[in-house]
Amino acid sequence: MNQIDHNFKGTTIIHGDTLQVLETFPDKLFGGIITDPPYASGAADQNARQKSTAQKYSSAKAENMLPNFEGDSKDQRSWTNWATKWLAEARRCSKEGAPICVFIDWRQLPSLTDALQWAGWIWRGTLVWDKINSRPQRGRFRQQAEFIVWGSNGHMPVDRQSPVLPGVFRQSMPSAVKRIHQTEKPLEVMRDIVKIVEPGEIVLDPFAGAGTTVLAAKMEGHPAVGIELSGYYADASAKRIEPRDVSEALPDAA
Ligand SMILES: C[S@@+](CC[C@H](N)C(=O)[O-])C[C@H]1O[C@@H](n2cnc3c(N)ncnc32)[C@H](O)[C@@H]1O
Repeated sequence: MNQIDHNFKGTTIIHGDTLQVLETFPDKLFGGIITDPPYASGAADQNARQKSTAQKYSSAKAENMLPNFEGDSKDQRSWTNWATKWLAEARRCSKEGAPICVFIDWRQLPSLTDALQWAGWIWRGTLVWDKINSRPQRGRFRQQAEFIVWGSNGHMPVDRQSPVLPGVFRQSMPSAVKRIHQTEKPLEVMRDIVKIVEPGEIVLDPFAGAGTTVLAAKMEGHPAVGIELSGYYADASAKRIEPRDVSEALPDAA
């Protein structure tokens, strides 16, 4: 049983399966859910989907390859069913009016917007992360963007204590030498996105990876909780958000 309650003021990474960990949280705990789940989309067919995440998402040489991550080989219908379950449980432990922002790519966008609404969230829009660089292919459009589906747990008052925020984020991927996760999101983008959560409210990332959301939330003054199934990434993200000395913190702060 974890110790997260309405008085939680710190930052933490919980090692476990999101569906099981979410069940341990009280109702109406979080002020916002900001997350980047496994998309299970990096393949054209079901056989290709079973490949490792490194094969699907990384062009690094074998000696520089980061560890694979969990949960990325579900077929289409089981992914949508699973997404509906964790989204519903995340809504139960979110405050009324709390925002949710979920990263996704073009292939899973329709499934995610269905799952979000099936889980009871109000879908309010789709933001664009313009990655600027992407592999050019003659005769085709570049796959240059990922998306952030956002919504709220019911009515969202207009006088919330959050600033006006952009609908498009232009930022390249973290450089391969600094990255500690295969699909790590840029810290700058995550710092902008967590601003949708009202000051002082607890941020939850149910799929923490390298802990980018939790670190961004901490830098923006929020308590924050991340959940991560992979032991390797649970350790790596915990070290990243609670660096023991200044030199460990510097690469992320750059
Ligand atoms: C796309 S990555 C998140 C990357 C993160 N945004 C970052 O910047 O590093 C998704 C993460 O969710 C984790 N994951 C997959 N299934 C999970 C589950 N059922 N419960 C908790 N974490 C899970 C994976 O191991 C992976 O690290």
